[in-house]
Amino acid sequence: MTSPDLPNILQLTPLDPGYRADPHAVLDDLRARRPVHRDETAGSFILTRYDDVRALVSDRTLWRDPINAEPAARLSRSGDDIPEGVPRSEAASILTLDDPDHARIRQPLTQAFYARIARFRPEVERIVAETLDRLDTTAPFDLMASFCVPVPIDAIAAILGVDHARLAEFRDWSEGLIQSLNPFRTPDQTAHMERASAALTDYFTRAIAERRAEPRDDLISDMTRLQAQGEPINDIELRINLTALLVGGNLTTTDLIGNAVRLFLLNPGELAKLRANPDLIGAAVEETLRYEPPVDATGRIASRDMQVGGCPVKAAQAFTFFLRAANRDPERFDDPHRFDITRARHPHVAFGGGAHICIGAPLARVEAQVALIKLFDRFPNLRLADPDAPPVWRTLPFFRGLERLDLVA
Ligand code: HEM
Repeated sequence: MTSPDLPNILQLTPLDPGYRADPHAVLDDLRARRPVHRDETAGSFILTRYDDVRALVSDRTLWRDPINAEPAARLSRSGDDIPEGVPRSEAASILTLDDPDHARIRQPLTQAFYARIARFRPEVERIVAETLDRLDTTAPFDLMASFCVPVPIDAIAAILGVDHARLAEFRDWSEGLIQSLNPFRTPDQTAHMERASAALTDYFTRAIAERRAEPRDDLISDMTRLQAQGEPINDIELRINLTALLVGGNLTTTDLIGNAVRLFLLNPGELAKLRANPDLIGAAVEETLRYEPPVDATGRIASRDMQVGGCPVKAAQAFTFFLRAANRDPERFDDPHRFDITRARHPHVAFGGGAHICIGAPLARVEAQVALIKLFDRFPNLRLADPDAPPVWRTLPFFRGLERLDLVA
C-alpha cells in the first residue's frame, strides 16, 4: 500500500525536479524496495522489474481500454471521457482499444504502414539530408528545434501524403494533441489540444474523401483501397488512427534522436566505436532505446484475479509499467547504468510489447539510424555548446526528451 517514504505517481514524472534530474535514483530504489507497488494516487500497481514488466506487457489477455478499469484506477481512466452511445472504436485509437476492435483496425493499418516503411529509407535519407542542409551552424544552434523536431514530422507527413505547405500547421497540431497523453495538463494545454484535434479531424476527413476519389502514392490512399477491398474499418476509425500515427510518430522519435545525440556527445568512446564501424548503428539505436527511452511508462488492466510478484491483483485493477526502470534492471542488464553500444544484446522494452507493441517502431528505428549516421558524418567536430550546463528536460509526464540541445559544429 502507499507508504509515505515511497514515491507517489507524481514523483515518478518529470514534473518532480528530483525525478527530472535523475529518474533512476528514484526508480532503482523503488525496484529494490517494492517492485510491485500499489500507488493509491494513481490507483495502479507500479511495476519496475524487467521480468514482471516484460511478462505482463506481452500478455495479450490483459486489457487496455480504460472502460474496463475499476473507478479507483484514476491514471488509467484519465483519458476516458468518451460520450455514452459512441462506439469505442469511433472515439479512441488502437492505443486504448481491446479486441476485437483492436485487431480489426490494427491489422489493415499495419499491413499498409509496414509495406510503406519497408521502402521508405531513401525518403528518410532525403529528408535528413535536406534538414541538415538548412542548419545554420555559424553559431551555437539548438539541434532539437532545427533537426530532431522537423525530421520525424516531415517523415510521417510524407508517409501520410501531407502537403508540404501545411507542415507548420501539422507541427502545431501534433504538439497540441500530444497533450492528450498528459493527465496533468493545464486549461491552456487542454485548449490547445482541443483546437488541434478539431483541425486534424477536418484535415483528415477531407483527405480521406479526396484520396478515395483520386488516389495518390500515400498511406491514406492505401487505406481507402483496403476499405474498398472489404477491410471492415470505417472513415471515422481511419481518421482517428491516422491521427494516432501522426501524434505517436512525432515527439517520441524527436526525443529518441535528441537523447541519442546527447548520449554520444557525452560518451566520446561510444561515438568513436560508431564512427569506426557504422554497422553498429542498429545496436547504437537499440542501446539508446534501452538507456534513455523516450516513453517512460505504459499500462494494462487485469482481466482476471491474478498474482504478480507475490501480490494479489484483482480483475479491473490497473498496472503501470515503468519501461525505463525495466530497461535498467540489474537482474537483466550487466552494469545497467553504463551506455555501451557493444553490450551483449538483450531485448529492451522501450516499445512496450504484445498486442499493443508500438506500431511505429520500424519507422522510428530507420529515422534514428539515418539521422545519427548523417549528422555525425556531416559534422565531425560536433560537440555540446556548454558541456557543464545541466540538460534541460521537458516536463511532460511519462516522456523523456530535451527541451533544447545546444551544439557547436
Ligand atoms: C522512439 C520512438 C517511439 C517510442 C519509444 C514509442 C513507444 C511506444 C510505446 C511504449 C507504446 C505502447 C506499447 C504498449 O503499451 O505495449 C507505443 C504504442 C504506439 N505507438 Fe509508438 N513509439 C515510438 C514511435 C512511434 C511512431 C514513429 C509511431 C507512428 C508513426 C508510433 C505510433 C504508435 C501507436 C499508434 C501506438 C499504439 C499501438 C497499439 O496500441 O496497438 N510510435 N509506442
